[in-house]
Amino acid sequence: MHHFAYRSGVLHCEGVSLEAIAAELGTPTYVYSDATLRRHYKVLADAFADVRHLIAYAVKANSNLGVIATLASLGAGADVVSGGEMLRAMKAGVPASRIVFSGVGKSADEIALGLTHGIHQFNVESLPELERISSIAVKMGKRAPIAFRVNPHVDAGGHAHISTGSAEHKFGIAWHEADAAYDAARSLPGIEPVGIAVHIGSQIFRVAPFKEAWTKVANLVRGLRARGFAISRLDFGGGLGVPYKPGDDPDSPAVYAAQAREVLGDLGVELILEPGRLIAGNAGVMMSRVEYVKERDGRTFVILDSGMNDLIRPALYSAHHEVLPVREPAPDAPLAPVDLVGPVCESTDRFAKDRPMPPMKAGDLVAFMTAGAYGATLSSQYNTRPLVAEALVRGDAWAVVRRRPSFEDMIALEGAPDWISGG
Ligand code: LLP
Repeated sequence: MHHFAYRSGVLHCEGVSLEAIAAELGTPTYVYSDATLRRHYKVLADAFADVRHLIAYAVKANSNLGVIATLASLGAGADVVSGGEMLRAMKAGVPASRIVFSGVGKSADEIALGLTHGIHQFNVESLPELERISSIAVKMGKRAPIAFRVNPHVDAGGHAHISTGSAEHKFGIAWHEADAAYDAARSLPGIEPVGIAVHIGSQIFRVAPFKEAWTKVANLVRGLRARGFAISRLDFGGGLGVPYKPGDDPDSPAVYAAQAREVLGDLGVELILEPGRLIAGNAGVMMSRVEYVKERDGRTFVILDSGMNDLIRPALYSAHHEVLPVREPAPDAPLAPVDLVGPVCESTDRFAKDRPMPPMKAGDLVAFMTAGAYGATLSSQYNTRPLVAEALVRGDAWAVVRRRPSFEDMIALEGAPDWISGG
C-alpha cells in the first residue's frame, strides 16, 4: 500500500505532481511519501500493540534525515551499523536510549560513541568484538548492554546476496558457541548481557523461516535463564518483504506479529524489531527522464538520465522495479519490449531488459517504483555523477530533503598533491 497514483493523467505522490517536482529539482530524484512512511510504521506498531516492543528502524534502508525524523516523531528507535548512522539518527531526533548498534566490524571510536551517548544495546557479532567493547567500557567506567547476534543456521531463501542466516555467512556467532559466548560475557567487567539478537535475511515473503529462527532463540533464552542469566530482550531483526511487482504477496505484518506472539509466549521479554524495507520500500520512487531512444540490431534502448550509481539494485541483485511513465499512457497504448538503461559506462547499467513499455520519447519522465529502501542510500558518484536529490511530500506540500551537489561540492574534499605544482 502506498500513496503514488495517477491524478488527471499525471503520477502524483499524495497531492503533489511528480512533474512539478522534476521541473524544480531536475532528475534523477527520489521522492518519498510521508503518508506511506507513517502508514507502514503504524501498521507494524499496531500489530505489536499488545507486546512490549521497540521498533528500531533499520537506518541503512533510507537514512535521509527527513525520513528518520518522520519516523522518530512517531516514536521509532533506530538500528544503526556505523557511527555515521548513529549520529544521523540522533540528529533526526531518535533518543540514544532507543538506538541498537549492529554490524560485524564496529571500530573503537564507534563503540566509544555508543557508550558515551548511552545506547540501548550493542548487537555483538564475535568474541574479539565483545572483548573490545568490554575494555573500552571499563576505561569509561561503564558497563555495555549487549545482545549476541546468533546465527541460527536457517536458510531464508531469497536472493543469495541478501540472505544472512546460514553457517557460511559472516554474520553472528555460531549457534553451537552461544552458551560459551554468554559465559565469556558474564566474566567480562565491562559487559552486561541483556539480550539475544537474530536476523536471517531480507525481502523474505513467508513467516515460516522466521518461526524456525525465533523458536531457536526463544529456547536459548530459557536455557540461559536456567543458568542464571537475566536475559530480558529478544531482537528479531528485520527482513519481512514487500511487493515489488503485481502478484507479489508477502505475509502481512499482522501474520508476522501473530507468529511472534506465539513464539514469545510468556517469556516476558522486550521485543526489538529492525524493519527497514517494510517501512521505506514502497514509500519512495526514483524519477528519471528519457535522454534518448536508440534503435539498434532489432532492440530498442531507452537511455535514461539515471544510472546504476543512482539505483544499483537491478545491477547488484537482479532486482525488479516497476517503471511507470509519469504521464499516464492511454489505456489502449501498445506495449513493446525495450531495454531501460542508464548513461554509466558499464554493461550492468541496465534497469530492465525486454520490459513491455508504451511508446517513449526523449524528455518523458518515468518513475521507478518501490525505490524508497536501499535506493538513495546505495547511490554513489561513480562516473562523477552528482548524488541524487531527494524530496519528501506531505499532502499538497513538499520539501527538498537533500539537494543535488554542485560540481564544486563533489570535488571539495579532493586536491592534487603539492609536488605536482611544486615541480
Ligand atoms: N537488521 C539487520 C541486522 C540487517 O542487516 C538488516 C538489513 C536489517 C535489519 C533490515 O532488513 P530489512 O527489514 O530492510 O529487510 N541492499 C539489499 C538489502 C540488504 C539488507 C541488509 N541488512 C537490497 O537492496 O535488497
